Amino acid sequence: MKKHFWIWILAGLAVAVSCNRSKDKKESVPAKTQAEINKENDQRLEGDHVTDPSELKVMTPEEKEAYLKKSKKMAKNAFDIFSAHLTRLFNEKKPGEALEYCHDNALRITDSLSKAHGAEIKRTSYRLRNKKNKPTPQEERVMEVFRKQILHNMKPKPYMHYDNEGYPHVYIPIIVQKKCLMCHGDPNKDIPEVINEKLAELYPSDKAIFFKEGDLRGIWSIKFPKKK
Ligand code: HEC
Repeated sequence: MKKHFWIWILAGLAVAVSCNRSKDKKESVPAKTQAEINKENDQRLEGDHVTDPSELKVMTPEEKEAYLKKSKKMAKNAFDIFSAHLTRLFNEKKPGEALEYCHDNALRITDSLSKAHGAEIKRTSYRLRNKKNKPTPQEERVMEVFRKQILHNMKPKPYMHYDNEGYPHVYIPIIVQKKCLMCHGDPNKDIPEVINEKLAELYPSDKAIFFKEGDLRGIWSIKFPKKK
């Protein structure tokens, strides 16, 4: 009995010491420069899941600029459509209906925009409300990098490349603003009760809550057709 007692005390001490150590270790890592972080992030993204680096087609700066310009237009177009409807419904003091509107129409809007623009536009996140918006492994990787950048107080910038299937692909960060919190913030503080109830009804496995202003909410992921 007594022997066991001492073993437990020693085990407890060992855990306490190792926890403290790892804490010290974390604090003593020298801060990376912004250039170093940028370089690391670029390498992570370019690495992709291409097995042979020679398979990776590189996007020229001119192409990047052109695709980005088109993508920004598409994302803005989609955002404006969402916002206009939401604002109207809020002004009529019907947040429950605004939510229902998103539920029924968000994917339909992105689908019809995709057709109109001749490129696939998708909204995705690492914490999903609608499972149909599930990210691909590449999209997950991009979001991981954007989140790290925000953690280091850097503003994430859109990223574009030829993806692992050879499509021109643009990823634009979506940042949480104050006005998003009433549907994506803290359910005990930011989200009104009507909305909490509606969310529980429409999205029983909702993960898109507890966001804060400035967090990465997700990305616009825009895939262009291959050039002939
Ligand atoms: C009226 C409530 C409401 C507001 C306000 C709102 N959203 Fe949402 N959001 C939703 C709903 C509902 C969905 C799920 C839509 C669907 O079913 O496709 C959603 C989905 C999303 C998605 C897609 C990923 C996922 O989790 O399914 C993103 C990204 C997103 N919202 C970002 C934002 C941003 C950024 C803002 C603020 C500018 C915002 N939302 C404001 C209700 C809202």
